[in-house]
Amino acid sequence: SSADEEYDVVFIGGGPGGYFGAIKASQLGLKTACVEGRGKLGGTCLNVGCIPSKALLESTHHYHMAKHDFADHGIAVADVKIDLDKLQEKKREVVEGLTGGIAGLFKKYKTTWVQGWGKIISANEVSVALEDGNNKTIKAKNIVIATGSEPAPLPPCPVDNAKKRIVDSTGALEIDTIPEKLVVVGGGVIGLEMASVWARLGTEVTVVEFLDKICPGMDGEIVKTFQRTLQKQGLKFKMKTKVTGTEVSDTGVKVTMEPSSGGDSETIDADVVLVATGRRPYTQGLGLEEMGIPMDKAGRVEVDDHFRTNIPSIYAGGDVIKGPMLAHKAEHDCAAIAEIISGKAGHVNYDTVPGVIYTSPEVAAVGATEEQLKEQGIAYKKGKFNYVANSRARAIRQTEGFVKFLADKETDRLLGAHIIGPNAGEAIAEAVIALEYGASAEDLARVCHPHPCLSEAIGETAMATAFGQPIHS
Ligand code: FAD
Ligand code: NAI
Repeated sequence: SSADEEYDVVFIGGGPGGYFGAIKASQLGLKTACVEGRGKLGGTCLNVGCIPSKALLESTHHYHMAKHDFADHGIAVADVKIDLDKLQEKKREVVEGLTGGIAGLFKKYKTTWVQGWGKIISANEVSVALEDGNNKTIKAKNIVIATGSEPAPLPPCPVDNAKKRIVDSTGALEIDTIPEKLVVVGGGVIGLEMASVWARLGTEVTVVEFLDKICPGMDGEIVKTFQRTLQKQGLKFKMKTKVTGTEVSDTGVKVTMEPSSGGDSETIDADVVLVATGRRPYTQGLGLEEMGIPMDKAGRVEVDDHFRTNIPSIYAGGDVIKGPMLAHKAEHDCAAIAEIISGKAGHVNYDTVPGVIYTSPEVAAVGATEEQLKEQGIAYKKGKFNYVANSRARAIRQTEGFVKFLADKETDRLLGAHIIGPNAGEAIAEAVIALEYGASAEDLARVCHPHPCLSEAIGETAMATAFGQPIHS
């Protein structure tokens, strides 16, 4: 092993958790290293998650608009064609630009990237298996586990991303010929985003969902509209259904399924099957058992309210701990850890972490759902506003969807915001600020929104919630 190096903090994992936390730590004056074995920084998000999926969603959205929506604007385009190779090449360019950008930021902030796979061997030491086969030990006053997550396997559907018949999200991002038939197992975020990509390119998509609704955990009213919208776009759903077996051949996959509660099975043909039934924390080879660092039943590293494991010098953040498996949550976890290590008060409010689904229209949410408020017995009032009554939505001809606010019945304090509609992902940011600052619906109703903008729908929903009625509806 080569000479020991000593740091104030070492992050294990270079995803949105690790790289973000490492830059923050460097900015706070800590001598910082980040161990990443993938060969690129950026983790799941930049390499095989958020970014490539959004690149594909954007490109296919343009294609779909050119084919189906331009005529409605009086634009005639004949013979719209898709060049899948080019589309994939552009996606790779986006990914490379961004992962390279992180490496550039590491240089700028003097953050050391140790390229290899890390294993915790003591409270202050990480052994790194380098690419050349050697090991090196780095010493650090603090260690942060930010090793993220991986697709959870589903036994009846063994994934082989190289063969491209049964794939997980990583394989689904690399499909190089448009499948005729795609079966998506799991009607969650990954399943529906990827289903949208391929459906726009003409693939016949069937989503198989175990439960009676897609995106469990999301507000019920939103989910209903969302599923109807996706059905209008051609997606087929097999609800309350589980896949029990698959048979792969050179020409495709036979997928056998039956009702979730048991019953007659049926078999459908697919060219490709995407397994998207959830992700699990990734802690393989990290040495947690040897170190006696506890994990919960789901395999998540257990931490206290300050991201500390049972070993005071070892912290964890991002997908590998509790909370939503989202890039921005991972970033905030690990930035807070950097602050805590440098003696500041780092904190993340999990009640105001927004979630966005980048379909068309987008779906976005923050805070409590109506179902949660009912369950908790909290008296609430509700305001809704449809985008069809928003002038900008009319002008851009994207009138599908609505905004829904939930506020405390007594105090008018905003408790939840749910949006399905054009640019919902950008629109939710305003509600996040409102919730974070403890604003009332009336506070937001009195905020001046520019006209004609989609954000006026936020103001109108706040009026509906605070005063019982909006103006334009
Ligand atoms: P990761 O990003 O998983 O990074 C962990 C890194 O640690 C990896 O690079 C891994 O190689 C490395 N590593 C693991 N073990 C070791 C070790 N022992 N030594 C060295 N390195 C190690 N989230 C959103 O917010 N918005 C989205 O639009 C979105 N889209 C997604 C789309 C897809 C298809 C997928 C799969 C995920 C998506 N996510 C999205 C989720 C998002 O990618 C994750 O929440 C985020 O990447 C978590 O960050 P992290 O740093 O905790 O872990
Ligand atoms: P998910 O938890 O969102 O959805 C999984 C779905 O599969 C659920 O609807 C579940 O009921 C269903 N399911 C589970 N077992 C099943 C079975 N045996 N048969 C049929 N259906 C089954 O998980 P997903 O979509 O894999 O995504 C993982 C995580 O990645 C998300 O929770 C999210 O945190 C993150 N992500 C975020 C994105 C975003 O923010 N836009 C995009 C993609 C992923």
